[in-house]
Amino acid sequence: MRTILLGAPGAGKGTIAKRLTEYDGSVQISTGDILRGAVKAGTELGKKAQGYMERGELVPDGLILDIMESRLQEPDCRKGFILDGFPRTIPQAEALKKLLEKLHLKLDLVANLDVPREVILDRLTTRRTCSNPDCQEIYNVKSKPPTSNGKCKKCGSPVVQRADETEEAITKRLETYNEKTAPLIQYYGKEGSLKNISSTSSEETVSVIKSTLKAK
Ligand code: AP5
Repeated sequence: MRTILLGAPGAGKGTIAKRLTEYDGSVQISTGDILRGAVKAGTELGKKAQGYMERGELVPDGLILDIMESRLQEPDCRKGFILDGFPRTIPQAEALKKLLEKLHLKLDLVANLDVPREVILDRLTTRRTCSNPDCQEIYNVKSKPPTSNGKCKKCGSPVVQRADETEEAITKRLETYNEKTAPLIQYYGKEGSLKNISSTSSEETVSVIKSTLKAK
């Protein structure tokens, strides 16, 4: 399957994407994870992206499109992919459309995870993430805690709070989402591939996505 997960910061895109990869072997492509990996490794991309990310702003479209153009052509994408955090602007969506046409690929579904703002704020302040770039398992001190000494249950690496998890950056990320990313809901609604899912339960969201894909 080829799926896009839309949703505000903290809506659960990463959590749902990881569950869907277990379903049919599609690969999760998270632009946020790719960028955090680049910042940690100190690459040119990381140096360019770091300031935008820490302020809660979007990284310029050109940088993201360069990453995605090559990422979508890697062999592990042949089984399908779940885009988590991309596209995030109308120009990114237009560029993705052209790229998929060039690669003769069709999207199966755009799932919009619609979660109330108060739930999102609570989730973002309580989220923790595995610091190992090859793992990046997502935890939550309330709903899915790491081990009692703060280690990842999958790989044993320290579990940390993200650099963009300050109150100021969270507020900015939500504003940026409303201004730049929310218009994609209408964009994909017009394209006819959108499924809106209003649920705070990951089980329910995964099950709606699976049944929508099966019905295609
Ligand atoms: P990115 O990493 O994509 O961050 P985001 O969109 O802000 O999304 P999050 O990762 O914060 O949340 P999520 O929806 O994945 O939720 P999660 O599953 O973790 O991007 C970071 C930055 O990179 C951006 O600000 C930007 O600067 C840059 N960037 C990335 N892509 C870009 C692009 N395309 N263009 C330009 N710039 C880009 O869940 C959140 C928490 O809730 C977790 O603790 C989880 O355990 C918990 N939780 C989830 N579901 C449930 C549930 N059902 N019940 C209880 N708890 C739950």
